[in-house]
Amino acid sequence: MTSAPRRRPPARRPRAPADRPTVPPIGTIAVDGLAKPHPAIGLGLWGLGRWKPADEDRTRATIGRAWERGLRWFDTAEVYGGGRSERLLGEALLKFPAGTEEAFVVTKVSWEHLRPSQVRASLVSSLERLARRSVDLYLVHAPDARVPLADTMGALEALREEGKVGAIGVSNFSVEELEEASRHLAKARIVVNQIEYNLFNREDGDAVGDYCRRHGILVEAYSPLARGLLHGRYLDGRRVPAEVERFVHNLFEPNRRAEVLARARRLRDLAREHDVPLASIALHWLAARGAAPLVGMSRPEQVDSNLAAWSARPSDRVLAEAEAIARGDRA
Ligand SMILES: NC(=O)c1ccc[n+]([C@@H]2O[C@H](COP(=O)([O-])OP(=O)(O)OC[C@H]3O[C@@H](n4cnc5c(N)ncnc54)[C@H](OP(=O)(O)O)[C@@H]3O)[C@@H](O)[C@H]2O)c1
Repeated sequence: MTSAPRRRPPARRPRAPADRPTVPPIGTIAVDGLAKPHPAIGLGLWGLGRWKPADEDRTRATIGRAWERGLRWFDTAEVYGGGRSERLLGEALLKFPAGTEEAFVVTKVSWEHLRPSQVRASLVSSLERLARRSVDLYLVHAPDARVPLADTMGALEALREEGKVGAIGVSNFSVEELEEASRHLAKARIVVNQIEYNLFNREDGDAVGDYCRRHGILVEAYSPLARGLLHGRYLDGRRVPAEVERFVHNLFEPNRRAEVLARARRLRDLAREHDVPLASIALHWLAARGAAPLVGMSRPEQVDSNLAAWSARPSDRVLAEAEAIARGDRA
């Protein structure tokens, strides 16, 4: 009796660990002259000035969880915590296997250091704190009308030529400033403009974002959750902390606050109706515009919750409805 040929078990495909979702890139930017994928969602390490020892421990744990969950884009700046943010990030990345190579590290030169010798000194100090030889992307944090952009951009280009900076970007730049800055780059291009952009704050994002899209500049959207409001915070009577009020003053000004909260509650209802987290709507509304959300997360649970929100993609119809609600077109 011949026995039936034994079926070979199907080759097992290596599976990504269930708790490590892949975060596909949102687009590419030119880094070191090569098209490099730009991650779709990032971890912002500003921390809103909270840099006490307990905050630092939480930040370390948050970076650890972000790494574990597959996030690779880390955003910091020389001004965040007076350099503490960069130092913490540098120390954390050294501990992860391939942390230095795999991470996409973005830092920024302060608006107070835009003269050429200052730009160089700032980068050297940032690299020392980050424990790296180069950063993937170096941004001008904000323009300073007292310093000609020609001087700053020239200095950045020299640093890129030396390999200390993979690519050059800017932050909080208007269309005019982008045009002016681009004119002063000989070989490099501006690859990113990091701006405040969310469902409620669109003044800059819409116009500047259009220009960026047409000129191949990727928009990194900061404050994508309107400091937690688009996560549902402050909708059940929770007090808005003074530092949040100060930073997002345009949302919480007395003449606007009640209306903004009412619209945010309508957005929350919409999210419930479609069984997605409110943050999914906030993050994917940006992504649908080609803008990469840069989310501030101050504790590990927020990484989990934001990645869960990211993994639920609301339909285009829901995103359009959300936009109408945020704009005030829906009673
Ligand atoms: N280029 C610039 O000028 C500029 C300016 C501002 C920010 N940025 C960058 O953009 C990053 C993000 O901006 P952002 O921090 O202003 O805004 P955001 O992402 O809109 O808000 C972040 C805050 O929302 C809360 N939050 C986040 N996830 C949450 C969750 N799952 N559940 C409940 N609350 C949650 C947290 O508040 P708590 O921490 O209070 O829990 C967090 O600090 C910054 O870290 C920084 O890297 C750049």
